[in-house]
Amino acid sequence: MKTQVGIIGSGPSGLLLSQLLDLQGIESVILERQSREHVMGRIRAGVIEQGTADLLRTAQVHARMDREGQPHDGVNIAFNGERYRIDFKGLTGSAVMVYGQTEITRDLFEARDALGGTIIDEAEDVRPHGIDTDSPYLTYRKHGEAHRIDCDFIAGCDGFHGVSRQSIPADVLHTYEKVYPFGWLGVLSQTPPVADELIYAHHARGFALCSMRSATLSRYYVQCPVDEDLADWPDDRFWDELRRRLPDDAAEALVTGPSIEKSIAPLRSFVAEPMRFGRLFLAGDAAHIVPPTGAKGLNLAASDIYYLSRALTAFYKDGQQALLDAYSETCLRRVWKAERFSWWMTTLLHQFPENGAFGARVQLAELDYLVNSKAAMTALAENYIGLPY
Ligand code: FAD
Ligand code: DHB
Repeated sequence: MKTQVGIIGSGPSGLLLSQLLDLQGIESVILERQSREHVMGRIRAGVIEQGTADLLRTAQVHARMDREGQPHDGVNIAFNGERYRIDFKGLTGSAVMVYGQTEITRDLFEARDALGGTIIDEAEDVRPHGIDTDSPYLTYRKHGEAHRIDCDFIAGCDGFHGVSRQSIPADVLHTYEKVYPFGWLGVLSQTPPVADELIYAHHARGFALCSMRSATLSRYYVQCPVDEDLADWPDDRFWDELRRRLPDDAAEALVTGPSIEKSIAPLRSFVAEPMRFGRLFLAGDAAHIVPPTGAKGLNLAASDIYYLSRALTAFYKDGQQALLDAYSETCLRRVWKAERFSWWMTTLLHQFPENGAFGARVQLAELDYLVNSKAAMTALAENYIGLPY
């Protein structure tokens, strides 16, 4: 088989790239290790920046998002039993939208199907070859048969555990990593959200987050030890723990119910540089991971795809190489700012016993400063709604 851009991974990065390229008349094939059901069943991000929403509109997958997505003009920060609002709209003129990654993924699959896009799922042993030549290709196996796809470029959209990043020679690749000593225990429940807007709660028992997917679907998280066993967290224990970490009014308003999904996610900051080697371009989680506190993971994947689709379009339409050459540097400038913000939000809101009593008091002073300073709130708002592309 032959195509122009071979894409590894059918997460949001790979699907969005394929869709944007198709609308520019550029062919691609996606190779995905898992089944479509598996990819669509993953519960992940929930908050999207204006820039991501605009890119989904460019990709013509916006109809349901504009109908069902909920614009959020601010968030709440809770600590010391009080709740404070940060007014994104008032401070920056912009806002975010609550629309789940699960829905975005479904919309993208439907759009790819409608345009006749090729997505080969359950592809085993996918490997990129010849990435430092002008004729790269992909190999994979399906139903025991070996296949090869020749292409002009390969997009590594295969997430943190993918094969793409590992294909870049070790002496070229630099990685930067911070692993946090805790995780997030998340629950999805068919219950009305506790508040109209998200609540990020600092508490001596650990961080908690109240989020949502719709008027009837809630998403909650609590900070937990990273090696925690899910079996030790029946629903009742989760709800009790969440309630204890929320301000009284929220704890009283909390509606509980059976969990539909429950999982533990580790927290990590990670960046791989460069994001391009020869004809291989990394995008999204394949190149970088943020701790989820700033809701940046999916949004960074979208900005990478914006830069990559623009660069590939300039190459195919005008024979222009400059944007491809600038891809890694352009992405990384935005990536590092989102890494900094996600690390800062994580540091501000979680418990770090290793920082001692002094660290705990400094953290409370920073929270107090944040909610009483327009400058500090604006800095949070500007980053949360998303830095410009
Ligand atoms: P992915 O979504 O990881 O997609 C990569 C795809 O590549 C997958 O479908 C995978 O099956 C496929 N693949 C991997 N290896 C291969 C291979 N060798 N061959 C073929 N295919 C392969 N972000 C937030 O903002 N908020 C959140 O609450 C949040 N929660 C998260 C929870 C978890 C458990 C995880 C893992 C991530 C979470 N994120 C969250 C981050 C966000 O979901 C990601 O940033 C986003 O999914 C990145 O999209 P992607 O397409 O780059 O990667
Ligand atoms: C959600 C996840 C986040 O990491 C975040 O910061 C906000 C919301 C969510 O899953 O809804």
